Amino acid sequence: MLSQNEIRDQFQNRRPGHALTRDLYCDHATLQADLDAIWLKEWLFAVPACELPKQGAFATLQIGDYPVIVVRGSDGRIRAFHNVCRHRGQRLCAKATGSAPKLVCPYHQWTYDLDGKLVWARDMGPDFDASAHGLKKVHCVDLGGLVYICLADVPPPIADLARTAAPFLAPSELAEAKVAFTSTIIEKGNWKLVMENNRECYHCGGAHPSLCRTFSDNPKFAAMDGPDSASPEILAHWQRCEAAGLPSRFVNAPDFQWRLARIPLLNNAESYTMDSRAAVARRMGKMPFDDAGSLLMYHYPNTWNHFLADHAITFRILPISATETEVRTTWLVHKDAVEGVDYDLNRLTEVWLTTNDEDRQVVEENQIGIRSPAYEPGPYSPLQEEGVIQFIDWYCDTMQRRLAPQPALAAE
Ligand code: FES
Ligand SMILES: [Fe+2]
Repeated sequence: MLSQNEIRDQFQNRRPGHALTRDLYCDHATLQADLDAIWLKEWLFAVPACELPKQGAFATLQIGDYPVIVVRGSDGRIRAFHNVCRHRGQRLCAKATGSAPKLVCPYHQWTYDLDGKLVWARDMGPDFDASAHGLKKVHCVDLGGLVYICLADVPPPIADLARTAAPFLAPSELAEAKVAFTSTIIEKGNWKLVMENNRECYHCGGAHPSLCRTFSDNPKFAAMDGPDSASPEILAHWQRCEAAGLPSRFVNAPDFQWRLARIPLLNNAESYTMDSRAAVARRMGKMPFDDAGSLLMYHYPNTWNHFLADHAITFRILPISATETEVRTTWLVHKDAVEGVDYDLNRLTEVWLTTNDEDRQVVEENQIGIRSPAYEPGPYSPLQEEGVIQFIDWYCDTMQRRLAPQPALAAE
């Protein structure tokens, strides 16, 4: 395990435009540093709001050592809490998702309201102050139907992203959607390898025959540098979509932590299906036509998303260990779309279930190769892997800024 100073040296000595060192992808102390400097400081995508459709609906997630529960209250608001009982610290809720009128600890049945207030605790004596033992809050925002949480005491600003994303997401009416399917897989790879793999399509032609029926892996086609700078195909798509009320033009955070852009699919494809036609007969929200392409939205460190005319797909990653990452994918459709009538679940999910499995394999093989002492960081392609370069620059800059310098040992 590396010391803090050794981790800092890794960033100081890195070769820009190259993959990271073996240690930064494999070392346990580095994962802890990633957690401390990024995962416990940044806003993280938790769940789509429509996954918690009614009061009492909850979802749990684990970020490093922190179990968190996200729950819709009786007032309709979604809140997040540390999923830890205030009695003797039992994890309050072990299920991934579910619904309950109140949150009851399984150990001694302390009972909390959906807003975190402790409402029942047996035989605690006359001096017990229930009001001092409510669940501890975690920062939580509903960003246009996407629930984000932040474990930092003082979260970084999210207003810019919220303000920018709102008009892009509005036509999808995510709050009026429902979950059609959820898949959770573990990839045996460092979280940065999972994110790097997502940020390029250099591998798509070789790895993703199903996805490549509808998604272009041509970097010239996908080129976008700003709201007025893109390939002719994408510029034409932006004009057509914006004339129909769909904000579409490339917009990004100055440090590239997030980016939004609506891109066309290949050959006027409507959806990520094997036959390229819509998977769901009922369109999302106010989407004006079937071939609206895909609104791409990523946010470091843990999410990328596709919002199409007929459905939306959200992706959430969470590190499990230095070499394991959970990838949770959720397919959303209009809440009135009926399975078996308006959509066939297999047709809706097959391309991305297959693609996820293909990505799992490349990430796992990448991790195995990087474990070799013979591994040496190789160069990224400036044409094909610009997104990876941006992600790795964001990661390294953020880590360097936040890793506190250690005082040098005094000379004897
Ligand atoms: S630890 Fe939760 S009620 Fe005792
Ligand atoms: Fe991929």
